[in-house]
Amino acid sequence: MSKVAVVLGLNYGDEGKGKVSTFLAGNSDIALRCTGGNNAGHTVEFNGEKIVFHLIPSGILNKNTDAVIGNGVVIDPKVLFEELEVLDKHGVDLSKLHISTRAHVIFPYHIEEDKLQELLKGDDKVGTTARGIGPCYMDKANRIGFRVIDMYNEDFERKLRRNITNKNKLFDLYGFPLLDENKIVDEYLEYRDKMKPYVMDTVSFLHKALDNNKNIICEGAQATMLDMDLGDYPMVTSSNPTIGGIQTGSGLSANDITDVYGVCKAYASRVGEGPFITEQNNEIGDTIRELGHEYGATTKRPRRCGWIDLVALKYAVRINGVTGLAINHLDTIGKLGKAKLCVGYKLNNVIYDEYSDDIIGHENEVETIYVDLNTEFEIAGLKDYESLPIDAKKYIEVIENHLCVPVKFIGTGPDNDDMIIR
Ligand code: GDP
Ligand code: IMO
Ligand code: MG
Repeated sequence: MSKVAVVLGLNYGDEGKGKVSTFLAGNSDIALRCTGGNNAGHTVEFNGEKIVFHLIPSGILNKNTDAVIGNGVVIDPKVLFEELEVLDKHGVDLSKLHISTRAHVIFPYHIEEDKLQELLKGDDKVGTTARGIGPCYMDKANRIGFRVIDMYNEDFERKLRRNITNKNKLFDLYGFPLLDENKIVDEYLEYRDKMKPYVMDTVSFLHKALDNNKNIICEGAQATMLDMDLGDYPMVTSSNPTIGGIQTGSGLSANDITDVYGVCKAYASRVGEGPFITEQNNEIGDTIRELGHEYGATTKRPRRCGWIDLVALKYAVRINGVTGLAINHLDTIGKLGKAKLCVGYKLNNVIYDEYSDDIIGHENEVETIYVDLNTEFEIAGLKDYESLPIDAKKYIEVIENHLCVPVKFIGTGPDNDDMIIR
């Protein structure tokens, strides 16, 4: 029987999905990305080397694992080829990469539009990664986007010139520099040729793989609270990083999925604007940031840090149907000495143990109910749960009891092997 394991972020991203996915790829024939684009930054420390993946599933590092960029992903070809170059230097067999004919393509005008939209929002800006992700998905929904397959159509150049002309009218209106039409056309005709060996009908490829009892690992990008429908709209990304996005972004069915691993940290972080109920915008947050090296893998921005929020996590667990949790950075929280875990919100005398839409717009009024725990422990190098100090076990068990889901993976350091498997 084939297995399809999904790795999803439960908070605001950067939970350590890359590390968990690479680890699970060890037992997988195919590693798959289904959503988002190079707004993602997945850090992997593998055999002593640190690699940051933006587009390609990190499981490609595993010798026997093929990698698929699914139809729900948006691809910036420039970033794709930069990433392939890095992997080539690491001796990765690039012929293992397969790119969906249906994935959408990011163009330079998307990146400029991303910057323009943010500027126009003024104080209401989202704090995007400025990678053109939102505008590319906008064009997809507006039916003026280009799928990879459309680049090989005889109409491609005409339609691309049409889009650039129209986008330049918009940039002109707002005093933005105009884009060089011929340069973009030439660049993308070149990318199209370079991309060709990788392009295939990945939906059929995945279906055939399942028919042949292959195992698949789906590497989620972004996270539940950044979901366009179920997250903190409008402070979200422009895709569905939750479980539904895995299906629409790959062509796998709900029935194919056998395991859903939800990833979070022993604390919480957010990069970009938007609500963050357990944020510690103070010395504690600064200490967590330094201990956990919480700086963006994509934009290098300092991440906002705070306590683990079990109320939001309960919501994320329910939405995604999480069957097992991965909790990273238990080593980091162990350096803090003491920590708080948010187990409830109080708003207008009502107590919530799971996130609710009642909270929307009242994030600043919510009173947080915390459990305090001692977190003074050194766990680097520990490999089995039983060897963990009692306070570390207690931390895990409070999370497990609140969320009613078993903790299967515990991160004890940044390296791929720094993990306790339960
Ligand atoms: P992703 O986007 O979810 O893949 O996560 P990122 O790579 O953006 O951020 C996670 C960061 O935490 C990376 O720098 C990882 O190397 C690091 N990391 C992951 N797990 C652990 C852990 O258990 N302990 C420590 N100290 N670092 C970890
Ligand atoms: P990984 O996969 C953390 C955030 C941005 C911004 C919002 C919208 O590494 O966990 P976008 O560029 O997508 O339009 O930005 O979403 N964001 C992420 N934050 N990790 C990510 O990916 C993110 N991808 C997008 O900071 O707040
Ligand atoms: Mg990241």
